[in-house]
Amino acid sequence: MQIIKKKRTQHLKVCIFEKNKLVKLSVNINKIATLRNARGGNTPNLLKMASDIQSYGADGITVHPRPDERHITYSDAKELPKVIYKEFNIEGNPINKFINLVCKIKPTQVTLVPDAIDAITSNSGWDTIKNRSFLKDVICEFKNNGIRTSVFVDPNLKFIDGAKEIGADRIELYTETYASNFAKGNLQELKKYIESSLLAKKLQLGINAGHDLNLQNIEYFVKHMPFLDEVSIGHAIISESLYLGIENVVNLYLQKMN
Ligand code: PXP
Repeated sequence: MQIIKKKRTQHLKVCIFEKNKLVKLSVNINKIATLRNARGGNTPNLLKMASDIQSYGADGITVHPRPDERHITYSDAKELPKVIYKEFNIEGNPINKFINLVCKIKPTQVTLVPDAIDAITSNSGWDTIKNRSFLKDVICEFKNNGIRTSVFVDPNLKFIDGAKEIGADRIELYTETYASNFAKGNLQELKKYIESSLLAKKLQLGINAGHDLNLQNIEYFVKHMPFLDEVSIGHAIISESLYLGIENVVNLYLQKMN
């Protein structure tokens, strides 16, 4: 990858890089499990959805099993490898139960997230300095099991240096502040992500990103990030699928009824 030109966009001076690698999309299917769990039974069918999502072109499937199993259950996580033929990413807080589950399944990638048990969704990245020795041990265990490791971090250079020191293969940049600023029209926030990506690349870390990415903000993000391996997106993909699909389904009902 090589810098081909410098350009001033409307608000932000950025480098445009010649991209020779496509950014992978891993679809987080937690919300599909949430919908299924709301009724009991098996609708929507999580395994079929995972299989279809890959056949529609997604590069992988992400799940985030939480200790209370309110969306993806531990049993879902064990069943999913039967239908996953692309990349499988399991993310979560590495408590013992999670470590045992992931080492048994051996997905392509494990993403370590410091989420509290009662958090509605992930709300911050790791302090990779304070948690250095704990994370180093956990990463070592996953690597011994042949699993690629990624650490969820805010776009803060010291935590990216920290991720390198604990032996992670990749970082996942927490994109909430990019997304909320983008929604307000503030594109300057992306600067932190660009700088983080440049440092990670220099340290030979892979770069993932996720949280609150959606159809409005994804294009600008991917276009301006100099190095980006993968994004993982859940909430918006399911919400947008409802908006983009509901007209069709309402019409199908009307046709059947009349
Ligand atoms: N990355 C991590 C580490 C997450 O915890 C989540 C949410 O589960 C996501 C990405 C996806 O976020 P969203 O659902 O907002 O797309």
